[in-house]
Amino acid sequence: MIYITIDGPAGSGKSSVAFYLAKELGFEHLDTGALYRSAALLWLREGERNFFDELEKVKFELKNGILTMNGKALGDEIRTPEIGKVVSKVAEMPKVREIITHKTRELADKRNVVVEGRDIGTVVLPDACVKIFLIASVEERARRRYAQYLSKGIKLKFEDVVREIESRDRIDSERAVAPLKPASDALMFNTDSLTLNEVVSKLKEIVMEKIKKC
Ligand code: DC
Repeated sequence: MIYITIDGPAGSGKSSVAFYLAKELGFEHLDTGALYRSAALLWLREGERNFFDELEKVKFELKNGILTMNGKALGDEIRTPEIGKVVSKVAEMPKVREIITHKTRELADKRNVVVEGRDIGTVVLPDACVKIFLIASVEERARRRYAQYLSKGIKLKFEDVVREIESRDRIDSERAVAPLKPASDALMFNTDSLTLNEVVSKLKEIVMEKIKKC
């Protein structure tokens, strides 16, 4: 089975790139940010009591590109500014990382899959065939996130989105467990000034070449 990992900071284009790259290759796509966002949703709903037990019991499934939590497809409820504010803090808890890492490996098991996140190439799937680390400037990433919010009818100030991105970068890269950083064997790919199509077709070329040797 072939694993392709895509890591990178918030707004670097991971989700769209991973989605279309997986489609082009005929692979499954697994967005691990959605797993951490689901954990944050549970945290907001449950509070501290029973949180870890409840998280442990959650059943995630991935079929034909649809990620479900306890049988229900995950949608916009995990992509709100409220979740955006707490998710880094929830993702920082070692116990949460242990549970989600385990669940990610189970979801990825025995399939050809593009897995995206922050620590996939370094911690979750260190033996993956191809590891990609996406980079883009803070301004470019904030522009993309701002457009995403607008398209969902969520109005925020652009400066607040810049601050959200900067704060997430700080928390994600400075946390003690599994911080955001490229694996030593990852390919660094800068998406500034490239369209989504350009990024996907370039990466597809690179991946097709690399998987011949896996
Ligand atoms: O990619 P995203 O913005 O949906 O990720 C949401 C949060 O989850 C973000 O704060 C980083 C965290 N995350 C993580 O710590 N490790 C991962 N593998 C994926 C996401």
